[in-house]
Amino acid sequence: MIAPGARGVMFHMNEAFTDKNQMKDHIVDFVMNPTKDKAVCKSTKRFGLMPSQKGAISEKELDTVADWMIANLSMSKSEHDANQKKHQKNR
Ligand code: HEM
Repeated sequence: MIAPGARGVMFHMNEAFTDKNQMKDHIVDFVMNPTKDKAVCKSTKRFGLMPSQKGAISEKELDTVADWMIANLSMSKSEHDANQKKHQKNR
C-alpha cells in the first residue's frame, strides 16, 4: 500500500470534524497544500506526506470530489480498527 484507503481517510475526517463545511475546507486545502502538521490521519509516518495535487486536479473538480467523498465514503470504527490490525501484521 502506498496510501491510506479513501474510506479509512473519511473515518478520520468524521472523527475530527462534526461540521461538514469545515471537513470540506480541510480536504480541499490539504489536497492542494498538504503538510504533516495539518494531517488529521497522522499516517504520514507510515506512508510519508501525500503529494500536492496542484496541477493534477482543478479547484472545480476538487470541489466535486470532496463533496462526493463526504457524501459517499465512510467506515465504522470496528472496521477501521480491524484493518489497522491486519496491516500491522502484514508490515
Ligand atoms: C484528488 C486526489 C486526492 C484526494 C482527494 C486525496 C485526499 C486525501 C485526504 C483527505 C487525506 C487525509 C488528510 C488528513 O490526514 O488530514 C489524504 C492522505 C493521504 N494521501 Fe491523498 N488524496 C488524493 C491524491 C493522492 C495521491 C495521488 C497520493 C499518492 C500518490 C496520495 C497519497 C496520500 C497519502 C500517502 C496520505 C496519508 C499521508 C498524509 O496525510 O499525507 N493522495 N489524501
